[in-house]
Amino acid sequence: MSWIQSTTIYQIYPRSFYDSNDDGIGDIQGIIQKLDYIKDLGFETIWISPFYTSPQQDFGYDIADYFSIDKDYGTVQDVEQLIEAAHQRKLKIVLDMVINHTSNQHPWFLESKQNTTNDKADWYIWRDKPNNWKSIIGTKAWHFVEERNQYYYTSFLPFQPDLNYQNETVKQTMFNVCKFWLDKGADGFRLDIFNCIIKDKHFRNNPFSLLHGIPTIDQPGGNFQNRKYSVNQPENFELAKDLRAIINQYQPDRLLLGEVFGEHHVKKQYLGNGNDGLHIIFLFDIIHFKFKASFFKERIKAYEKNYPFPYQPVVNFSNHDQWRSQFRLKNNINKAKLLTLLQMTMRAVPVSYYGEEIGMTNAYIPIKQAKDKLAHAFTWIPEWIAKRMPVPINRDNCRTPMQWNSNKNAGFSNANTTWLSVVDDYKQRNVVQAQADKDSLYYTYKTLLNLRKTNNSINKGKLNLIEDTPNAIIMYERIYETEKHIIILCFSNKKISIPLADDKYTILLKLNDSFTWENNTLELSNYNGLIFREIV
Ligand code: GLC
Repeated sequence: MSWIQSTTIYQIYPRSFYDSNDDGIGDIQGIIQKLDYIKDLGFETIWISPFYTSPQQDFGYDIADYFSIDKDYGTVQDVEQLIEAAHQRKLKIVLDMVINHTSNQHPWFLESKQNTTNDKADWYIWRDKPNNWKSIIGTKAWHFVEERNQYYYTSFLPFQPDLNYQNETVKQTMFNVCKFWLDKGADGFRLDIFNCIIKDKHFRNNPFSLLHGIPTIDQPGGNFQNRKYSVNQPENFELAKDLRAIINQYQPDRLLLGEVFGEHHVKKQYLGNGNDGLHIIFLFDIIHFKFKASFFKERIKAYEKNYPFPYQPVVNFSNHDQWRSQFRLKNNINKAKLLTLLQMTMRAVPVSYYGEEIGMTNAYIPIKQAKDKLAHAFTWIPEWIAKRMPVPINRDNCRTPMQWNSNKNAGFSNANTTWLSVVDDYKQRNVVQAQADKDSLYYTYKTLLNLRKTNNSINKGKLNLIEDTPNAIIMYERIYETEKHIIILCFSNKKISIPLADDKYTILLKLNDSFTWENNTLELSNYNGLIFREIV
């Protein structure tokens, strides 16, 4: 089994992780200084949101030069140093690669938009007349440019023009971008909106759909449109294979992690036969969890059915586009511990978002004050509705600085002002405080991350869901060769009993002390969860 199927991933939003030069913005040297923290916590791979040169309209997801690093974050030498320092610690570094679109400030686009005859004239998607396609967030996707008397297409926001992959030179250029970073030792890529990249070459209109809401990540339809011709085209599945062929030329293995949206039978096609597509993809239907055993049981069943070995599901509950899970759990640390137990023991690659390990929650920044340009596209949504939406319209809320300690700016920066302010609970919720409290969520993470390293069944064994359990209980076995563990999770604060032979298992981990285990009966409550090891 490759490291890819058994790894654990920690996502860093570089702007908010650690500021080494006191300008109020996190940077690459800051990440280097915190590598030991991540290593000690127990994660094995770090995925870093984009840090390339960018006008920062979408904070790096709008790239203006793929071969240099934005002045806010450092230099190419800093990234080389980061990769080396990570490798010395046996950590992998996965870069974020945005190949669907560039910034509208990229020299390629500046040239392309001038006229219809320049060298880059068909590097982007230009049409005399727009068809009916909308962006994946439901906004206008075609934008008029006077110089060309034509419209260009954007899958996301207007300043992120989509590249034209029908043009072979564009495709090869973007593959060369990937090779450039692989040659520098990057351990792979998280691929931004990968399912949007190649569009229908006939530009057929998308069919009408009754889905009327704003599209969400697990439901790319919406705004009365089925995105039949603008996302998940068969050529996109082929593109996954082309990229895999490139990274297969590198040793040791490099990772391709796709951000793709759609139903399982569609998304699965990005994985090819298990050896010739992307290695893993986000399964966004779990990120918007309901804190209910039945919700997660359904997911486990669906993942076991759709992604059996050698496929590997990916489980994350927070990222830079979502409300933080701790916020959705209303700050209930016992619930957060239970989710962590599930995430770290399901058959999956767990991906955690910086600060999740200390239970960081969201800020409350109204749309009108947003730095996030996505919010600017939705200023018509009243604040009381925005607050209740399943995805944040203002993503600043989940991107606030990491809370390291109780000093100024939570120890993130010495600057007088930081790009976003820290959340005001930082005096009680920070790394120093978490490390001093043996009962903290931080130690649940640390213990579980280390258990994964020392127990094969938990990180690479097969999973058997035991279906005949009380409603609020999830129970599964993880089995690898002769090693077997049973994981039992209680999604209730009330007492629930289940039979469990007390001479066959020993307790490897318990989340809290709310349980008894006598006369072959386990009784647990208070969102407790336990790992048992079979005695052989
Ligand atoms: C992805 C990123 C998001 C970004 C968008 C456009 O969904 O996660 O942050 O704004 O793509 O690149």
